[in-house]
Parts: sequence; C-alpha cells; structure tokens
Amino acid sequence: MPIEHEPVAEILFETIASALEKDGYVVLPNGTPARVSECLQRLEDQVSERFYAASVGRGPEQSHNQTLRRDKIAWIDEGDPLAEPWLIWAADLQRYLNRRLFLGLFSFESHLAVYEPGDFYRTHLDAFRGQSNRRLSLVTYLNPDWQPGQGGELVIYHPETGTTLQTVAPLLGMLVLFLSEEFPHEVLPAVRERKSVAGWFRVNGSTAAQADPPT
Ligand code: OGA
Ligand code: MN
Repeated sequence: MPIEHEPVAEILFETIASALEKDGYVVLPNGTPARVSECLQRLEDQVSERFYAASVGRGPEQSHNQTLRRDKIAWIDEGDPLAEPWLIWAADLQRYLNRRLFLGLFSFESHLAVYEPGDFYRTHLDAFRGQSNRRLSLVTYLNPDWQPGQGGELVIYHPETGTTLQTVAPLLGMLVLFLSEEFPHEVLPAVRERKSVAGWFRVNGSTAAQADPPT
C-alpha cells in the first residue's frame, strides 16, 4: 500500500496547490515544517566554510555580477544526511503538485544562501520563458527573529504591472513559492546577516543551452 502523507502535510500541500492555481504564488508564515527548518539550520552551520560568491548564469557565460547580487551560496547535496528531511519534503510536495496541477515537475535543486549586512539581490526572474527548465521557485528562511528595519525582505512584483504584490520578512519557517518565469522579485539590502534557502523545481527535456539567469 502506498505511504500516505501525514494529514497536516496534505493540508499544507493543498493550500499551496490552490494558491498557485489561483495566483501563481504563495507566501505562508510557518509553512516549512519545524523539523525540516531545524535540519537546514544545522546544515547551514556545518557547511559554512563551503559558501562562495553566487554567480549569474551557467557554463561559459557564468559570471560574478556584484551589481546584481551579493549573496554567498552553498548548493545542497543529496548525500548529506542533514539535507534529507528537506529533500524528502520537497519531493513529496513535487509529487502532490504534479498530481494536482499537472506541472510535470521532474527534479529539484536548492542552495543555502547567506546575505551579509549590505548584501542584496536586485530584481530578477529565476527563469526566462523557453530558455530554462526551472518552473517553480521555492524560498524559505532560517532567521529565528527578524525585526522591522533590518531590511532583507523579499519583494514579489506583479508580472505585468510591476507593482508590489507582497513584501516578505525572512523569518524562520516562512515559505514562499512562485512560478519561476512569471514573477520578478528582489531581496532588499540586509542590515544584519540573513540566511535563506532557495530551490527550483525543474521540468525535463528543455535544452537549457541558454543559461538560467540567476545562480
Ligand atoms: C534567489 C532568490 C530570494 C530570497 O536566490 O534566486 O531570489 O529571499 N532568493 O532569498
Ligand atoms: Mn530569485
């Protein structure tokens, strides 16, 4: 018999699915399960020496673009035991969204990111239509407290009008998902150290010969 999701995961996944269906994005305080966040926090501590300056694009066109982004990242490894709850949870969500919305999500990749005071990530898209196989972006945060005035908010913009849809404080457990090709977004300059995790669900098949814009 197939293993079913815990009821609480089922409710969360359905909340995400219906918001994505309706709006294309969703912001959920405490959306990331506490046990998942805890492991990500421990992973972040453990890999702190592996962080390097994030670059823009992939392959030969990859470049450091300090005017676009200033964060440091460490890709999350499948083999890392502390990554397991996160990756299993993301895979469960992927399965649910595929069943419910027929998104055809095929794989997931993610990295930890640290923004030091002054660091930012200017307005960007995570994927350009037809040029990448990233479909759905997921972001969560590892900062147990975050006060107004400490900057570092994620701002999500309307795809057509460019008006602000939502400004998100990078608080522990906050969960954000949006369609990668649709929603411009930016990270405002952080006043204190800011820890986040960004992930992308990808579809299979496209060549992705043209680099993804960020990361
Ligand atoms: C990214 C990104 C948002 C955040 O890494 O592409 O947009 O809030 N991150 O950290
Ligand atoms: Mn992004």
